[in-house]
Amino acid sequence: MQSKRLTYRRRLCYNTKSNQTRVSKCPGGRLRFLYKKKQAKVPRCGDTGKVLRGITPARPRALSRMTKRLKTVSRIYGGCLSGQAVRERIVRAFLVEEQKIVSKVLKARKTMAQIDMSTAGKVITCRAAVAWEAKKPLAIEDIEVEPPRAHEVRIKILYTAVCHTDAYTLDGHDPEGLFPVVLGHEGAGIVESVGVGVVDLKPGDKVIPLYVPQCRECEYCKNPKTNLCQKIRVSQGNGVLPDGTSRFKCRGTPLYHFMGCSTFSEYTVVSDISVCKVAESAPLDKVCLLGCGISTGYGAVLNTCKVEKDSTVAVWGLGAVGLAVIMGAKAVGAKRIVAIDIAEKKFKAALEFGATDYENPKEAPQDKSFQSYLVEKYSGGFDYTFECIGKVATMRQALEAAHKGWGESCIIGVAGAGQEISTRPFQLVTGRVWKGTAFGGWKSRDDVPKLVDEYMTGKLKVDDFITHHFNLAEINEAFSVLHAGDSLRSVLSVSSH
Ligand SMILES: NC(=O)c1ccc[n+]([C@@H]2O[C@H](COP(=O)([O-])OP(=O)(O)OC[C@H]3O[C@@H](n4cnc5c(N)ncnc54)[C@H](O)[C@@H]3O)[C@@H](O)[C@H]2O)c1
Ligand SMILES: [Zn+2]
Ligand SMILES: [Zn+2]
Repeated sequence: MQSKRLTYRRRLCYNTKSNQTRVSKCPGGRLRFLYKKKQAKVPRCGDTGKVLRGITPARPRALSRMTKRLKTVSRIYGGCLSGQAVRERIVRAFLVEEQKIVSKVLKARKTMAQIDMSTAGKVITCRAAVAWEAKKPLAIEDIEVEPPRAHEVRIKILYTAVCHTDAYTLDGHDPEGLFPVVLGHEGAGIVESVGVGVVDLKPGDKVIPLYVPQCRECEYCKNPKTNLCQKIRVSQGNGVLPDGTSRFKCRGTPLYHFMGCSTFSEYTVVSDISVCKVAESAPLDKVCLLGCGISTGYGAVLNTCKVEKDSTVAVWGLGAVGLAVIMGAKAVGAKRIVAIDIAEKKFKAALEFGATDYENPKEAPQDKSFQSYLVEKYSGGFDYTFECIGKVATMRQALEAAHKGWGESCIIGVAGAGQEISTRPFQLVTGRVWKGTAFGGWKSRDDVPKLVDEYMTGKLKVDDFITHHFNLAEINEAFSVLHAGDSLRSVLSVSSH
């Protein structure tokens, strides 16, 4: 023990006298570490500006506490910390930490500046793309958005993407589709205000609205086998918030909410169980895509089917959802990933995302079914197949191309209303499993922030899915490129900020 102290003292003397800094070993470095652990969470916006101007530390009391701690540390290291040079080093270390806190606070302030807090509690008039009726283009209108009521959150939407499901409803394929409505469910924004009883969100938080809510209380939320929270299912299906009313009006006419999200509007109101806070540094123009398509395809592989390493996988439909399935299959180490689409132009991206082979049903032999062709060519079929189109014919192909005895087929695509799937029961008797997924099985409020973090650390691709950029006013063009099969995802800038 004694020799240790002496060694330390020698190092310290050397450092102070020769004016060299060994941060990792010097007491300043040690204190900086202590400080980081103890103090880093107490930024105070009011007086941090002083540090920026370099006059005094932001928290003199904290500094004096720290200086007192010198004595303790000094005792630990054999009384060697009394010199002025060391004291200065402590202060310098303190100020370095202060600077980090200041930049954090300034960043948070910048985000806050993007929203006008004076609107809290008032009706906001803003622009939205309104779907007045099915099969008609969306109209950019001034709409009124009421303040959030109890357990509701009003969000300033900064970005939204257009998903196939929006087109499905707008095109009138959903008989339960309600009009007039504010569509959109793949978005991201900043909390503008919250209603009574909202505890885990505050104005300024970066958030993603979630069409699959998570109340954490219902029997579905408590069951690890499903993500289908039922708490607000009825009101969400009826196009209203849980209290049975809408927060949107256009020229006196109430507008329906869509999938509990309605992101095609500069402001929206959602239930507090239909939204999650994401990392402060997350780029919202990218992570908005994690609100639906990418998360769904990726989660179908990881959660719904739990695809194992070295599996064989086939994917029908190479839109954003199908490519996300390929991304997931590659991530888990599938050894063969076959990409299937009728549009030749889709194969390039599929190969880039990790597909090992591709097949175009139009070019397959026409004297047998496409699934028979696949079963013959790919050694009896696939361990896992995914349908990401929404057609009952391709759902059957996918099931019957799953391997006899153990193959699993997962339906992701949303089929036209009233349509039914069919196969010969013998297909299931002989061991194939037919399943489906909603939002990739993710428990939305728990998991979407983690997916955002995975994107931030480079584990999850998002940028590669963005093929087009538009403004809200150009939203009908975004639907056109979707229908033409030219886009994976179009990201729309909704609010100016
Ligand atoms: N289950 C869920 O939670 C969930 C979530 C998001 C999307 N979806 C659904 O997933 C589906 C895919 O969404 P997307 O955004 O990727 O759509 P998309 O339109 O971008 O992609 C569909 C792809 O299927 C291809 N295709 C069409 N007919 C085909 C056929 N007969 N054979 C082979 N390929 C064919 C198209 O060329 C296109 O590349 C949609 O039905 C959407 O509604 C479901
Ligand atoms: Zn979607
Ligand atoms: Zn629930």
